[in-house]
Amino acid sequence: MTGKNVKRVAVFISGRGSNLEALIAASKVRDCPYRIVAVLSDNSEADGLELAARGNIETFAIPRSDFGSRSEHEAAVLNALNAIEPDIVCLAGYMRLLSADFVGQWKGRILNIHPSLLPNLPGLETHKRALSLGMRIHGCTVHFVSEGMDDGPIIGQAAVVVRTDDDEDVLAARVLKAEHRLYPEMLRLVATDRIRMSSGGATIFDDASAPDCDDIVLISPVPLKR
Ligand code: GRF
Repeated sequence: MTGKNVKRVAVFISGRGSNLEALIAASKVRDCPYRIVAVLSDNSEADGLELAARGNIETFAIPRSDFGSRSEHEAAVLNALNAIEPDIVCLAGYMRLLSADFVGQWKGRILNIHPSLLPNLPGLETHKRALSLGMRIHGCTVHFVSEGMDDGPIIGQAAVVVRTDDDEDVLAARVLKAEHRLYPEMLRLVATDRIRMSSGGATIFDDASAPDCDDIVLISPVPLKR
């Protein structure tokens, strides 16, 4: 991968930054088609900012409380972003809904990771809700961002089996592990132009006609072979 083909990625975070960490780690592997050039946060205390600084990645703390209105805050974020000039923006636990105007300006270039198999369970407390619904499969989704919350064309998903003895924390940890595998891989697909956002959803540009997994997987709460 030559320098000019390597995509510049800005990551937006609000907290812990474990997905950021996974993206940074993946970007260090030889021939990775992207590099993380900046990390922006609406929370100056976000652990992920320290993590980025330790990796010599430029950081921008832009707290909402420094601004009188949501739109002024977003204008400051947009300004910073326009100065960074990334090719792709990755939301990784960024707890703010971007306005239609913001999304419009960066259309097809913003990705998000969400801890459920969308369109199931948008919003918060996804693990708790998956357990109380008795779902046997849960997981995470990387998607292009559109104006709605946890909405937009799906790029890829990781399925996670729900075990009968799972509690919320155990399930959350298993999904998070899946997130750390999924996000770098899906960003790679976007960075190498193998998938792009289009008016009909996401358009795939690749020779492969089948997903990289078995077509059917049965998930039962009890063993099927007795
Ligand atoms: C992840 O579960 C992600 O899916 C969601 O927010 C969480 C962020 O975790 N959008 P981290 O900050 O990446 O550790």
